[in-house]
Amino acid sequence: MYEIKHCNELKHSVYKELDWLQKNYPVLYYMLVSRNEILQHSINVVKLAVLIACELELSLRERELLSRGGLVHDIGKTYWPQIYDTKYPLDEFDYKFVKFHPEAGYSILKSIKFPEEYSLIALLHHERINGQGYPFSLTNISTSVKITSIADSYDAMTSKRAYKKKVHSPEKAVEELLDDEGYDQELVKVLEQLVKSRKAVM
Ligand SMILES: [Fe+2]
Ligand SMILES: [Fe+2]
Repeated sequence: MYEIKHCNELKHSVYKELDWLQKNYPVLYYMLVSRNEILQHSINVVKLAVLIACELELSLRERELLSRGGLVHDIGKTYWPQIYDTKYPLDEFDYKFVKFHPEAGYSILKSIKFPEEYSLIALLHHERINGQGYPFSLTNISTSVKITSIADSYDAMTSKRAYKKKVHSPEKAVEELLDDEGYDQELVKVLEQLVKSRKAVM
């Protein structure tokens, strides 16, 4: 059982990490800022992941990993021009692209020598602990990847996108995550507490 403690401030701000990205990996930074929907989603994912990490009192190093990995987790989607304009339902090509974006992102990151530990978040953020994820159907997943996957799914469920029908309330999104064995339930309970205390509504 993870112990929940109050976190007063998010010392590791996502905007500081965006500056870090711009300074050290300008190509990635400009790829992100040229796609506002992906940038906004990535910022939300980082904010929520860091909030969960704070509640768990994870180290600064761990929060840095969540921030830098989270910022680039969907970089593989930047080559899909119509992603957020596509109307529901997605067609076969769209689904293939969706399934491929973790590997696409990882190879982009590898090609510019982005640190491996951060790049693994991009490669593995759609894996699920019950082996139902992709691309590798892994069951043994690191805490940082598990936190990112929860933050990612929560933001996807609670945000409006052209290609999907429903937008969930924060409470409904938590309910869905609590109902899904692909997510670490102890971590989802941390998110549940954040939502109940209205810290994670976004
Ligand atoms: Fe993704
Ligand atoms: Fe995502």
